[in-house]
Amino acid sequence: MKTLTDLLHTEFPLIQAPMAGVQGAALAIAVSNAGGLGSLPCAMLAPDALRLELERLRQGTARPWNVNFFCHTPPEPDATREATWRAALAPFYAEAGLDLATVPAGAGRIPFSAASADLLEPFHPPVVSFHFGLPAPELVARMKRWGSVVLSSATTVDEARWLVAHGADAVIAQGLEAGGHRGMFLTEDITTQVGTFALLPQIVAAVDVPVIAAGGIADAAGVAAAMALGAAGVQVGTAYLCCTEATTSALHRAALQSEAARHTALTNLFTGRPARGIVNRVVRELGPMGAAAPAFPLATAAMAPLRAHFEALGSGDFSPLWSGQNASGCRSLPAADITHQLIRGFKCSL
Ligand SMILES: Cc1cc2nc3c(=O)[nH]c(=O)nc-3n(C[C@H](O)[C@H](O)[C@H](O)COP(=O)(O)O)c2cc1C
Repeated sequence: MKTLTDLLHTEFPLIQAPMAGVQGAALAIAVSNAGGLGSLPCAMLAPDALRLELERLRQGTARPWNVNFFCHTPPEPDATREATWRAALAPFYAEAGLDLATVPAGAGRIPFSAASADLLEPFHPPVVSFHFGLPAPELVARMKRWGSVVLSSATTVDEARWLVAHGADAVIAQGLEAGGHRGMFLTEDITTQVGTFALLPQIVAAVDVPVIAAGGIADAAGVAAAMALGAAGVQVGTAYLCCTEATTSALHRAALQSEAARHTALTNLFTGRPARGIVNRVVRELGPMGAAAPAFPLATAAMAPLRAHFEALGSGDFSPLWSGQNASGCRSLPAADITHQLIRGFKCSL
């Protein structure tokens, strides 16, 4: 089996996790230039913005980089569920003096498609990673013909086996500690989700491709622990959230660097899919997994005006404060410094 650095052509087997909404090409460039694999999250980029960011990446680094897409199936809108959801949010709208009738429509997250592939092809991305499975087999085959390495996240052993059977060159084992969306795609049952230390060795034993550990890794000791459990490399997200090149808001940064970051939960309130973030007022008052929340990504639309209203007042009570369970690595430092600290973990063994 190839090592991860042979597969990715990076100096170190470290991937900066793509993090939609809190970063652009600048973070990816800094990490790639520091010897890791920088990632550009594309799920929330319209085509023109995506093209611009790809140009930036190409100009900003001569080293390999990764582009990341979601590959969910957009849901049919469900009027009854939407009405129940709006009724649940109505007291907050009343408190804010907002009108529920003015909620903007809009999906919020765009899945990978043939049009995305057309846009990507001229850039020949060295690595393309996915969340929520893989796109259709002909699209996977097309990316491989350009020479892209294809990765995706698995949250169970079954998902890891499925990804390898459908063409993934390596699998990201996303433990329950991880910040942001669970990459789960074969089940919606969150009781199937397990922590990194339990998931990683089981996936390593089940598949014959490199396995990348993700979730809760915040420093060099965490990197060394993942490598000791059989990881071929690591993917780190939360530890990059407060670095200079991230676009994380001041509110989100303050929460990550406060005591509040010790309490995170999986919640579907912000998008419709379970994702890990710091517990705030809306999560406390509605409960983290709201049965009324519309399917991903439709929950986003009705939450957005509340978020904007309260953020303008300096409050993150209705904001998705995405974070993994271990925010202890969040430092206000250049991404190259965070990267150098993490890669020390490849040089020591436990
Ligand atoms: C703010 C944030 C946004 C994220 N967005 C994405 C994304 O767009 N695509 C993706 O594949 N993973 C995304 N993730 C999940 C990461 O790929 C990864 O699984 C996670 O960050 C690893 O756990 P850690 O945060 O404890 O390091 C996101 C994570 C965070 C914290």
